[in-house]
Amino acid sequence: MSEGMLPRPAIFLDRDGTIIEDAGVIRSPDQIVLYDDAASALRSLGESYLLFVITNQPSVSKGLSTLQEVHAVNARLDAMLRREGVAIQAWYVCPHERSEGCSCIKPNPEFVLRARDAYGLDLERSFVIGDHPHDALTAKELGVHGLYLLTGHGGRHLSALPAEVPVFHRISDAAEWIRTHPDPEAELSRQIDDAAAAIREGGVAAFPTETVYGLGADLFKPEALKKIFAIKGRPLYNPLIAHIASFDELSRVASFVPDAALRLAEAFWPGPLTLVLPKRSEVPSLATGGLDSVAVRMPAHPIARELIMRCGSPLAAPSANRFTCASPTTARHVREQLGDACGIVIDGGACRVGVESTVLSLTGARPLLLRPGGVSIEDIADVIGELDVAKGTPEGGTAPESPGMMLNHYAPATRLRAFVTIPKAYEARVDVGFLLFSPPKVPLAGAIEVLSETGDPREAATNFFAALRRLDALGLSEIVAEFAPDVGLGRAINNRLSKAAMGRKPLSS
Ligand code: TXA
Ligand code: MG
Repeated sequence: MSEGMLPRPAIFLDRDGTIIEDAGVIRSPDQIVLYDDAASALRSLGESYLLFVITNQPSVSKGLSTLQEVHAVNARLDAMLRREGVAIQAWYVCPHERSEGCSCIKPNPEFVLRARDAYGLDLERSFVIGDHPHDALTAKELGVHGLYLLTGHGGRHLSALPAEVPVFHRISDAAEWIRTHPDPEAELSRQIDDAAAAIREGGVAAFPTETVYGLGADLFKPEALKKIFAIKGRPLYNPLIAHIASFDELSRVASFVPDAALRLAEAFWPGPLTLVLPKRSEVPSLATGGLDSVAVRMPAHPIARELIMRCGSPLAAPSANRFTCASPTTARHVREQLGDACGIVIDGGACRVGVESTVLSLTGARPLLLRPGGVSIEDIADVIGELDVAKGTPEGGTAPESPGMMLNHYAPATRLRAFVTIPKAYEARVDVGFLLFSPPKVPLAGAIEVLSETGDPREAATNFFAALRRLDALGLSEIVAEFAPDVGLGRAINNRLSKAAMGRKPLSS
């Protein structure tokens, strides 16, 4: 670096599953499939950052490819990107297997340090983007900010990722986030402060949780709760969930906490489980739809917890969408649907669980599942034994046990139908979009969204609402969805699919 030059920030990019599709061992340039948003995302990042690629290629050590082949692939990719106006400063390849204990394999910072010394980089303003937890953690101790993508292997290794690392569906989402969060800690802290101030003054703010984005207000301010119902267009009889950040707050909302609740909280909090308990009289009836019970959960998302703490009060927070529409799993989804009405939207990236919390009532003689969600029924049964599962109420029937059990919910604008197997008649239709749980077994002519390449219900849930929205935006004549296997998070997906298939028509009750 020349004397007196200001250190520049950098973006360190993973290759497979981040810039190009992860096709296993890539030995020839012909196997390169660039993600369709990669070049434009990198071009915009290149305006403010020096770009580097750091890639682990253990197949070299395993004898499945050669270093020459890796270099040839990198050279072609470099040329492809250059044609698109993207300049990669340097390509770093670790050819080792982890068992060799080399110093260059991610998350070790060796290549980052090499780049810093060669190019004079400001690591504390730099980012690493990749689809493996090791990418996000590369050079963390040197101040490099890790961002995680759900492309490539991202959906599969999410459970190994520290909670504070922001997650994104695509590289273009990560690039946009970097543009608006060049100093992530400072920017997020400011957003949380602004949101907390708005909520303390009786307003609302939208924030990320691990399930979906919530629209929050102070649980103990009825005027603020009214704003939530108005902004969502939600009927007043549909009660809200009280979000708490510590166990102490549980006694501020629930009048009695049965033993089963304690055991479930111990097992799943913070996390995507909501417990319905007898309410304290101080909880406004507006929050509980006039019921004498209250729904409570302790979210796991660090931003949600920080917000609740800075508000100094439990937050009532439904999903931040219009009533009966698909739930938002990114800040952009919230803004697209609620516009300026919801005030501040704290942008914490994509939600990791992707479907709402499981709602379990502990007010009756036996535990009753009201809504399948982020914690599976199987896992709940492991802790408390058997539970009853509430049946969805037929349209126009009597009051549902949980008002949110109404059948028409989560609906896209496009008509949606769900099947166990996609009917043959749809295969050649180009005007139809396919929302598939796993990769198609037969060729399909229309637009396709695959929720999990490996057929993993948890990964499918993470992608569910975002994929549904992408199809919904295409102006198709119909969305045809494939049910997931009815186990684990598959039940939560199927529940949303069945409801989405009912459309947006108003309830007759
Ligand atoms: O994951 C979630 O739970 C998200 C995030 C933001 O935390 N929140 C959410 O809230 O999904 P909402 O309002 O969209 O759904 C709350 C559900 C509804 O089905 C509602 O009827 C039910 O919880 N619920 C709330 N209070 C209840 C009560 N006292 N008894 C029975 N059901 C209740
Ligand atoms: Mg990768």
